[in-house]
Order: sequence, then structure tokens, then C-alpha cells
Amino acid sequence: MIHIRIPATSANMGPGFDSIGIAVELYNHIWVEEIPEGLMIEVKRKQEIEVPKDETNLIYQTMKYFYDQKGLKMPCVRIVQEDFIPMIRGLGSSAACIVGGLFAANALAGNIAEKEELAQMAAKLEGHPDNSNPAIFGSMVVGAQDDNGMKHVRLELPNDLLFATMVPNFPVSTHDSRRVLPDAYSRGDMVFNASRAALLVASMMTGKYENFDMSMEDRVHQPYRAQLIPGMHEIFAHAKEFGAVASYLSGAGSTLMAMVTKDKAEAFESKMSEYLGTLEHGWKLSLLQADMQGVLVETE
Ligand code: HSE
Repeated sequence: MIHIRIPATSANMGPGFDSIGIAVELYNHIWVEEIPEGLMIEVKRKQEIEVPKDETNLIYQTMKYFYDQKGLKMPCVRIVQEDFIPMIRGLGSSAACIVGGLFAANALAGNIAEKEELAQMAAKLEGHPDNSNPAIFGSMVVGAQDDNGMKHVRLELPNDLLFATMVPNFPVSTHDSRRVLPDAYSRGDMVFNASRAALLVASMMTGKYENFDMSMEDRVHQPYRAQLIPGMHEIFAHAKEFGAVASYLSGAGSTLMAMVTKDKAEAFESKMSEYLGTLEHGWKLSLLQADMQGVLVETE
């Protein structure tokens, strides 16, 4: 069987809306094999959302898209999926299905596409590359796309940073979370975000953690999405008080992400989990390493 392991991803990082994302060590797994006839889909780990086991399944649909793009007939397949990335929480669970489906289809078809071509397809299917790129390349990826394609640069994340995911018990769909955003922004807001996104990338590359707090400020999406995430600003303030270098809304939410240096991780974890335990919405804290590898494809 072909086994694909895809990391969870955290998009935007504050000002890098639809552009910047990172991968973390939390994974979905997919196994695929050709079968003589029909379609078999097995879901090994149930979450609160029912995963379709027919042709509407996202992994299946993405595999079919790959075969269609290549002008090939989609074979009959058995798909097994085991999802550890929480769904509809801003940790790239849909991108993981899309990336997994594309890499599964490519492996089944005899590796006829390069990684770069698959990255282009994934960004197109997602509509923005800030989850699909880090899911494919690992670490931190900066991307931009237009109708002619997507350009991206993978940057090496410093190895003394941990990513504290704080996942509540309520979902926020990307669709709902994009609907609350304005259609236009002022020049002031544009300057605010462009300068911080640039500062974020430069500070990450040079290890200037003292800049992170300012560089993760944002006026494009977080102020509007805060209404969907009860307690967001208070949780950010506590994360700072407990030693995080910066925090931001992960993707379209509902997960919040704090970045913590390893030397402060133990104290942060104990204080933050105690605080989150006092709140509604069952917030769950996990301190994760960055995933540096991206999608893994192997034959078992
Ligand atoms: N950049 C996207 C957003 C990520 O924030 O809407 C979610 O898919």
C-alpha cells in the first residue's frame, strides 16, 4: 500500500494573510491501493464531523482531479484515512486531504508529476497557498499566487521555537470566517500589514524574537474574526504574560497559536493549561515542534 503522512499547518501567522504558513508535528495518514472494482473508504479515527465514504470524499475527489488533469482514467481504489488534525479548527485539515490526495494519486500513477507541479495544483484547489505549501514542503513557506500560478519560498524555522496550539471545542468554517472580512482596507491598514509581514519574515530569518510581538500584529483578518473566537484577545494577553514570544489566530480559526522558546516551554505549558482550564469551550493545549519535512510518501 502507499502511505502518505501529511502535517498540520498554521496559516497567516498574523499579517501574512493567505501567504505565510508553517507545518507542525501533528499528522493525518492516508493509505491507498488499487482494487479490482468499486470504491472503498475506511475512516480509522472518527472526529465529530462525519467523513463521506463515497465519491464526495475530499481525498477521493482530489485523486480524481489529478487523474483528470493528467488525462488518465481514475482507477478503482481503497482509501484508508486516519485523521489526527482536528477538523474545521484552522490547522489545515482540508489542505491535508488535498495534499494527501494529490500525492497519493501521483504515487499510484507511477510518480509522473514533480513535487512542484503538485504544489501548484494544491494551491489552486485550496484557493490560497498558506496551508498547502507548508503541508508539502514543511517548515515555514511564504507564497503568492495569481491566475498564472504560485510562487513560494521555504524558509528554515529556528529550532528553539515550539508552537503552542490552543484548540477549542467549537469549529469555525473558513467560509464563515472569510465572510466577516471587509472587501476593502485603508492605506493605513495596508501599510500596517505589509510592514509587519515583511518584518515577520526578516525577524524569523535572523532570529530576532524581540520583534515577533509587533510583527504578528494584523489589521486584515484578526480584528474581524475575533467576534467568532470568544476570549481571543484575553488568551493572547495571557500567552504573553506566561512567556510566549507572540501569538496569532491560526488560519481562519478557531485554533489560537502561541510561539514559545524551548527554555520557557515548561512554565508556559503549566500556567497556560491552568488558565485555559478556567475558560469555557474546552480549550486544549499542545506544544508542538515544527515539522521540517512536509508530506511523506512511502510504499509499505
Ligand atoms: N488564509 C486562509 C484564511 C487560511 O485565513 O482564510 C484558511 O484556509
